Amino acid sequence: MVSRIADQGYLRADQYQDATKFNARVELHKRFSTNQQGWLRWVFEQLDLPAQCAILEIGCGPGYLWQENAEHIPAGWQITLADFSPGMLDEARRNLQAVGHPFAFEVADVQNLPFAAAHFDAVIANHMLYHVPSRERAYAAIKRVLHPGGRFFAATNGEAHLREIHALVERHDLGTAAWGGPSTGTFLLENGGAEIARWFEGVELRRYPDGLIVPEAEPIVAFILSTADTRAFGAEERARLVRAVEAEIAAQGPLRITKDVGLFLATCE
Ligand SMILES: C[S@@+](CC[C@H](N)C(=O)[O-])C[C@H]1O[C@@H](n2cnc3c(N)ncnc32)[C@H](O)[C@@H]1O
Repeated sequence: MVSRIADQGYLRADQYQDATKFNARVELHKRFSTNQQGWLRWVFEQLDLPAQCAILEIGCGPGYLWQENAEHIPAGWQITLADFSPGMLDEARRNLQAVGHPFAFEVADVQNLPFAAAHFDAVIANHMLYHVPSRERAYAAIKRVLHPGGRFFAATNGEAHLREIHALVERHDLGTAAWGGPSTGTFLLENGGAEIARWFEGVELRRYPDGLIVPEAEPIVAFILSTADTRAFGAEERARLVRAVEAEIAAQGPLRITKDVGLFLATCE
């Protein structure tokens, strides 16, 4: 059976039909992360690309990378935002309207990119490769659209990422309701480098130091349930879970949650 985290039908028609569920997870990180720089600002800083270049972000979601860094985008960057969910792409279009940069938008699956060969100087895949059924097809497609010397950036999580939330999911027997968190799956900081090295040169991993300190139950519950099958998890179960997490916080104080997140940088041969 295909895990829900890489189930294309579920991801496109439900999980990422629009940004609602994704935003519950973004909110938790936005409000309670200990590193004040912010993940997306840090990612942008790592790109270090020339003033004139063509960039593809595949699996762009609501376009937050560009919204967060709007004031630093060089005028000479031709940026194409692509996602296999038309709903997400609509959100990106709306979110980026005010940025005043001429972005191009394209519905596209990373396993079969509809762009000319050697078209891009850089491809970014931020927290999306763990959703892809065939990463081999994805790497082949990315390599084809990059020109030689082009840069590939892939962000993901490590095994320790949010382990306290996964433990909470287990304590409350929510294993079947949630997919176990976005870091579950096969594309992790621990194994991603070796995988990318089969397709690209000079692979480097940079980690972003961060953590969460969460004094409220509601955002944690919203995070967990953003990946849950809501038919199996009604309002009553939700309220019970909020009370249970509140009790944990009352007993031990704000929840301290591990984050392990990073970015692979590589070059196309
Ligand atoms: C976790 S979100 C990350 C969004 C954005 N990159 C960010 O970090 O803010 C994953 C995104 O990848 C998209 N996605 C998943 N599988 C995809 C595929 N095979 N091809 C293209 N996009 C995909 C989803 O629709 C979703 O918008």
